[in-house]
Amino acid sequence: MRPRAVAVVGVQWGDEGKGKVVDLLSAAADVIVRFQGGNNAGHTLVVDGQRFVLHLVPAGALHAGKTCVIGNGVVIDPAVLLEEITDLRRRGHLQGDDALKVSTQAHLILPYHRLLDRAREARGGPGRLGTTGRGIGPAYEDKMARRGIRVADLMDEATFRERLAYNLDEKGPYVRAALGEEMPSLAALLDQFGGYRERLRPYVINTSRFVDAALTSGRAVLFEGAQGTMLDIDHGTYPYVTSSSTVAGGAAAGAGIAPARIAAVMGISKAYTTRVGEGPFPTELADEVGEKLRHDGEEFGATTGRPRRCGWFDAVIDAEAARLNGLTALAVTKLDVLSGLARIRLCVGYTAGGAPLADLPATPRAWSQVQPVYEEMDGWTGDISKARRLDDLPAAARRYLDRLAELVGVPLALVSIGAGRDETIMLRDPFAG
Ligand code: IMP
Repeated sequence: MRPRAVAVVGVQWGDEGKGKVVDLLSAAADVIVRFQGGNNAGHTLVVDGQRFVLHLVPAGALHAGKTCVIGNGVVIDPAVLLEEITDLRRRGHLQGDDALKVSTQAHLILPYHRLLDRAREARGGPGRLGTTGRGIGPAYEDKMARRGIRVADLMDEATFRERLAYNLDEKGPYVRAALGEEMPSLAALLDQFGGYRERLRPYVINTSRFVDAALTSGRAVLFEGAQGTMLDIDHGTYPYVTSSSTVAGGAAAGAGIAPARIAAVMGISKAYTTRVGEGPFPTELADEVGEKLRHDGEEFGATTGRPRRCGWFDAVIDAEAARLNGLTALAVTKLDVLSGLARIRLCVGYTAGGAPLADLPATPRAWSQVQPVYEEMDGWTGDISKARRLDDLPAAARRYLDRLAELVGVPLALVSIGAGRDETIMLRDPFAG
């Protein structure tokens, strides 16, 4: 039977190029669902020469006739969402009543979440994570502490006022005493969010039931992960992680569907590795190769513009991600960026204190003792962005891909060799089974 529900997840530290892959796979999907994260994510898409940067609306929005869903697991900054909707609509996308659905149960990011995020980061010290400063962590904190404000609460004026007043009271003294900041006033927030209420209302529904019904009626649903497995709140390089479940298992809880519905999971990995923000990164390169990857790969954050840290491909984390997500297919992106390197390294294992590590380290200190074990392969030269079949690639590039997929233990389904939709070698459509 053809899989009707496919999840796409990042297997590294985010920025793997999920946006482009989701955009491509969306052609075969009817419904595209975000299930975690918020506008810390940033997908840069180039479609017909036009550049789009999406933070909240699923990357499927650039195909006509699809329904994009923002699920209950997402945290929503309404100002960012409304701006994105306006821009997409102005440019001819997200047309029609069914183009976008927003969960009643998704939590809101309020201005004080951003304030808390930035003030904590500004304090520096070991608590500094290098977040995107979008208020993601504090919004999820409130959700878990059961004082969060959900989309449904915003829709109900009296509830919104009550919950907002409670939150301002509760956080005010801490914000003042510990962070030296002032909370925004109740009146200002009521005014600002009152303006968002009616603009958002047409999109707000019980998305769990919507997605479930779509699957029951045989429609194809794509679950679009944000960030990456190594940023997962439980399985990532804690505490240098984001505040949500980025693994495929998160799709069930974050969209409100049964886990067994998800029939296929595609993992997206760069042909090398990058990360933004603080935290462990065993294969990081501080030399001219790292600089080349940053330059040729345009490795600057889509959300914050920060330069990304760059390094060799790390099969240890990719294989761990294959296990955690149950990957059924692997997409390798940005292979073109490696062109021109005489030799290419892949990390095939870790050692610490001279002994091989069987398991991933569990603390930042243990991570700092990791030494990557490398295998070296021949590189290739020339522009490979015109390749449309594996056979069009130089032999060395094919050998590199084969070895990479072998180390991860997952069959290769797609190779991306440029930002454009057509700069893709599609080997297997996950919706085709
Ligand atoms: P937060 O999600 O803003 O709290 O940031 C926590 C960590 O996750 C930081 O290291 C961020 O740089 C990283 N991060 C969050 N979102 C993304 C993303 O979409 N791509 C890459 N890194 C991200």
